[in-house]
Amino acid sequence: MTQSAFRAKLLTFTGDPAQSPDAAVFHEDGVVIVEDGRVAASGAWSALKDRVSEGASVQDLRDKLIVPGFIDTHIHYPQTDMIASPAPGLLPWLETYTFPTERGFADEAVAADTARFFVDELLASGTTTALVYCTVHKQSADALFTASEAKNLRMVAGKVLMDRHCPEFLRDTPQTGYDDSAELIARWHNNGRQMYALTPRFAPTSTEAQLEACEALAKAHGDIFIQSHVAENLDEVAWVKSLFPRQRSYLDVYDHYSLLRRRAVYGHCIWLDDEDRRRMAETGAVAAHCPTSNLFLGSGLFDFDKAQETQMPVTLATDVGGGTSFSMLQTMNEAHKVARMGGHHLTATRMFWLATAGAAQALDLADKIGTLAPQSEADFVVLDPKATPLLARRTARADSLEELLFAFALLGDDRAIYETYAAGARVHSREQARR
Ligand code: GUN
Ligand code: ZN
Repeated sequence: MTQSAFRAKLLTFTGDPAQSPDAAVFHEDGVVIVEDGRVAASGAWSALKDRVSEGASVQDLRDKLIVPGFIDTHIHYPQTDMIASPAPGLLPWLETYTFPTERGFADEAVAADTARFFVDELLASGTTTALVYCTVHKQSADALFTASEAKNLRMVAGKVLMDRHCPEFLRDTPQTGYDDSAELIARWHNNGRQMYALTPRFAPTSTEAQLEACEALAKAHGDIFIQSHVAENLDEVAWVKSLFPRQRSYLDVYDHYSLLRRRAVYGHCIWLDDEDRRRMAETGAVAAHCPTSNLFLGSGLFDFDKAQETQMPVTLATDVGGGTSFSMLQTMNEAHKVARMGGHHLTATRMFWLATAGAAQALDLADKIGTLAPQSEADFVVLDPKATPLLARRTARADSLEELLFAFALLGDDRAIYETYAAGARVHSREQARR
């Protein structure tokens, strides 16, 4: 048995800090003890120092803060190289930049190179798990899983399904989409730490026959993830209404094909009504709020109050390349401001929960990731409160945990990520990356 120990300030969670003031657990002088890729123990150094074995390596990170690895619940790896492409809104952005870029992933070398860069960029941002959209090409999913497997990351990903309303060169068919997805599920789902997400892009790009094929695959594989987009943009909502006139709402299209359930994650959820939100809560389907994307594409403002009232599960996501940053800290920054525009005060403590334990719970992965609890897979991030001169000055004056976390969320980005660990192994070092 190999043991390693990390002595630092620690933050972990036992629940939602909005529900219980004790849910955020902080140790000023703490330690995480890792054995065989899992957390063996975590807590106060004074209580656990005797559990650190003689030969163990002990890293002294006392001026830094360890938190569970960030979980980004909605991101497109093929859009890495087209991040920050301006357009007057979602639909023209898809036509002008997204579809032509995704065409390139027919080439396995492009997919492999982009996947490796993408995974490194996630790790440099402290993100250890993401729900990733690939392209329509099945080899794009193989490339992403291969890059993730090489670093032993817990990733969720899937080949995009789309068989209409997109360029001919990006179309599958109900049958090929079904067969390719089934093949990828067999190859990758629960293969090591990799997990599969059935990925119909959004209702407008799938025929009814393709949505029926999705329903069949989802029924046959009860523990895979499902991911799609819903109610992001008003033009998109009107388009769905014209394509599916019999459905009560956009969300109801997915409901009709039994695609609302645990482990089903829907990007955006801006233009839902309360009945939709209640239906998400009832089925356990999860909203991925993507604030940098929603502001950038002018899609709208996510309603935190209504989400909370209806108990719709909410998580945070970047939505790169519609999103403008890989950083979950920058995502928190924008989430705070979106919430503020709706008159809702979103605390930093809750945003850190949303990006870690809250996401793990919503995704049915709480027994594996999202906290520093014993037996968890040892995915964690070392944050540097002195990452920039300004952050150093502000965090030196932080009078509470909330103020410290708020400074990280509002001022932090990849510079604040000192190191990232996955299954106990270091997978990113800021100092080495800078060399
Ligand atoms: N809706 C359908 N496809 C996409 C996409 O790639 N990005 C975003 N933000 N919305 C979408
Ligand atoms: Zn998206």
